[in-house]
Amino acid sequence: MKHLDIIKKIPKAELHLHIEGTFEPELLFEIATRNKIPLRFKSVEELREAYNFHNLQSFLDIYYEGANVLIEERDFYDLTMAYLKRCREDNVVHTEIFFDPQTHTSRGILFETCLNGIHKALKDAQEEWGITSHLIMCFLRHLSEDEAFKTLNEALPFKDKILAVGLDSSEVGHPPSKFERVFKRAQAEGFLTVAHAGEEGPAEYIWEALDLLSIKRIDHGVRAIEDDKLMERIIQEKIPLTVCPLSNIKLCVFKQMADHNLKKLLSRGVMVTINSDDPAYFGGYAGQNYLEAALALELDEEEIKTLAMNSFAASFLSEEIKNHWIQEINKW
Ligand code: ADE
Ligand code: ZN
Repeated sequence: MKHLDIIKKIPKAELHLHIEGTFEPELLFEIATRNKIPLRFKSVEELREAYNFHNLQSFLDIYYEGANVLIEERDFYDLTMAYLKRCREDNVVHTEIFFDPQTHTSRGILFETCLNGIHKALKDAQEEWGITSHLIMCFLRHLSEDEAFKTLNEALPFKDKILAVGLDSSEVGHPPSKFERVFKRAQAEGFLTVAHAGEEGPAEYIWEALDLLSIKRIDHGVRAIEDDKLMERIIQEKIPLTVCPLSNIKLCVFKQMADHNLKKLLSRGVMVTINSDDPAYFGGYAGQNYLEAALALELDEEEIKTLAMNSFAASFLSEEIKNHWIQEINKW
């Protein structure tokens, strides 16, 4: 399968990546040790063995537990830098990163400790390797509207560092409508908006995200395929889906990669992108997600190129920079 060679080398943007989900067990143990935080796992291997999930919540429980060892600005810096090194290996030249401040502020960590650590790493990676990035602050949807408003207020002094707001965590039972007023206020403050919808939740949640939160793209959104009217709308309005193939398999959204609907969505004209979501937990970074999807779904070279082009077209880069990267991919 010679065409698979292009996956590693072709320039890519990543649009759905939780920085807390890049926490590799080795680094987690290193930071826990230096912060003198006891872990219930005895070794890296034992921790990795616990990465067996049957749905989104079973993953989130362990993901939040892992994040507890992040205390100092340096911890957030090291976490982010480790991810950016992986971007370099996969030729991810632009990344739009989610962070969950409430996971940290609820433990007494200052908002700016977390933000500054992440931001310094992004700046260094841009200077050293030319990797560009944007930050997207997510509200945890299992928490209240009040708590989301409090987090939005904390972010206001840092508008220069945060481009957009998003919505993540436990989807079912926490529809986008719960955060309509928060998103309206965020938009009025100049933030762009995205939201996780249609990962485990129904197509109805995608309608709500579009109509009530005015989102610019849908994170996951794979359940859109269950609703013809919704499919018509996202195709016509070119609303991107940030699809995460390995995540969907690990969290049992699809039984196996061959069952994933990514190729179907793509062939029906949906602006699909490939992303890694929480690569330390789901078995691979961006390149691995492209590779495993391409193998199982028999994607051809044109489809791989389209996915890479979509990743730039769906990004929050300027039109000029988007066009630059799309032309680069066209040369392949
Ligand atoms: N937080 C981290 N990964 C997530 C996912 N896949 N869905 C919802 N919230 C998340
Ligand atoms: Zn996600």
